[in-house]
Amino acid sequence: MAGDVSRPGDIVFRPVTDEEFPRFLATGMRAFGTACRDEHVTRERLVFELDRTTGMFDGDRLVGTGGIFSLQMSVPGRVVPVAGVTFVSVAASHRRRGLLTRLMRHQLHGLHADGREPIAALWASESSIYRRFGYGPASQTVSVEIRRDARAIDDDRVAQRADFRLSLRDEPAETVLPEIAAIHAAHLPDAPGEFARDNRWWQYRLSEATVERRSGWTPLSAVVIPDTGYALYRTKSEWSDGVAAGEVEILEIVAAEPTAQLVLWDYLLRRDLMATWRAWLAIDDPILLAAADSRRLHARLADNLWVRIVDVDRALAARRYSVDIDLVLEVADEFCPWNNGRWRLIGGPDGASCEPTRQSAHLAVPAWALGAAYLGTTSLYQLARGGWVSASSSAALAQAASAFRWPAAAHCSLVF
Ligand SMILES: CC(C)(COP(=O)(O)OP(=O)(O)OC[C@H]1O[C@@H](n2cnc3c(N)ncnc32)[C@H](O)[C@@H]1OP(=O)(O)O)[C@@H](O)C(=O)NCCC(=O)NCCS
Repeated sequence: MAGDVSRPGDIVFRPVTDEEFPRFLATGMRAFGTACRDEHVTRERLVFELDRTTGMFDGDRLVGTGGIFSLQMSVPGRVVPVAGVTFVSVAASHRRRGLLTRLMRHQLHGLHADGREPIAALWASESSIYRRFGYGPASQTVSVEIRRDARAIDDDRVAQRADFRLSLRDEPAETVLPEIAAIHAAHLPDAPGEFARDNRWWQYRLSEATVERRSGWTPLSAVVIPDTGYALYRTKSEWSDGVAAGEVEILEIVAAEPTAQLVLWDYLLRRDLMATWRAWLAIDDPILLAAADSRRLHARLADNLWVRIVDVDRALAARRYSVDIDLVLEVADEFCPWNNGRWRLIGGPDGASCEPTRQSAHLAVPAWALGAAYLGTTSLYQLARGGWVSASSSAALAQAASAFRWPAAAHCSLVF
């Protein structure tokens, strides 16, 4: 595989074996500052693909880790293969010697050389790390914290849907897994940034609470409106001076029907003995408008997925565009130089093609900005206003910005 250069005395990059996996996990978790227990190994082994792991070996010492998950991710208009980059770490003793840089090259050059996924995505531990490697911030999350004193949702439509309220079930999530998995799968094409979950990924999601062993938290529960929507959540009982002060964490709410989403929220917000509710939402989540007093949501914005275009032609042809586009993009990509140059993108709501061209460019865009715009949420306008993207005319910028934007804001609800 390209980039896999190992010289005597150098750090050797290679996949880890099943036997080495516990050490691999412990090494990475140590770099993140946490302890690794047997249940972490069991949980992570569910989803890790050993042949796509990278162990960095200094002699027989493991000094760094990385991995790729073979994801099927929702992007504008399609569900496509995406390399989910994960578990990037370098032991404290080996930092700032270029090992992360080498890992990034190993992964991205390898994906290109082997013709694997044309797009890579990751969650960043710090937002300062990945732009230099051509990743751009492609989605955002709004965290909300609702307190009991806030009349969070005040909407007549909730009362009108007695059928939803009467049909809902609230169970340990394990027991309703087939139902919620079906709702999630049906919703996936309309949810850019989310990825398909097979049984392994569902087990991964549901085992999180147990493995974290965060004191006092219940395992995940699911409240389900049959065939329509669900919310995954957990609770923790707390008391303060004899007054109930419990907490609720809502990990995801998926609903095909707007009122169903409101009914699920309303149900959760009426839980007895609870005082604080936390959730992580897409920036266009309607609950942000349904709140009776939106300031009382205490909303905070953070980056969510970072996206890297591995191969410009295959990546841009893989997604759909909101309106027709026929433009030449001049891409600057130092880290993955095969992307450098001019590309003619022709596309629209039904399909797209992208080919190298000698025609003059309408838009000049660095690789990270193209990655940022890929999921249709970070706007090319914003990138142009910041001076990172430049256009031959305001009409060309308008066409590109409108075509790349997608109606549903991208959001990923499961950290990988
Ligand atoms: C982040 C981490 C992987 C960096 O590894 P590293 O081998 O020290 O990185 P490199 O030596 O290849 O650094 C490459 C460049 O990135 C910069 N960089 C590295 N870590 C950075 C950070 N946390 N914030 C900002 N810049 C960072 C370096 O300064 C260097 O910049 P330069 O090219 O201008 O000199 C390592 O510090 C680590 O394991 N941290 C804890 C776990 C973690 O956060 N992992 C990331 C998971 S998403």
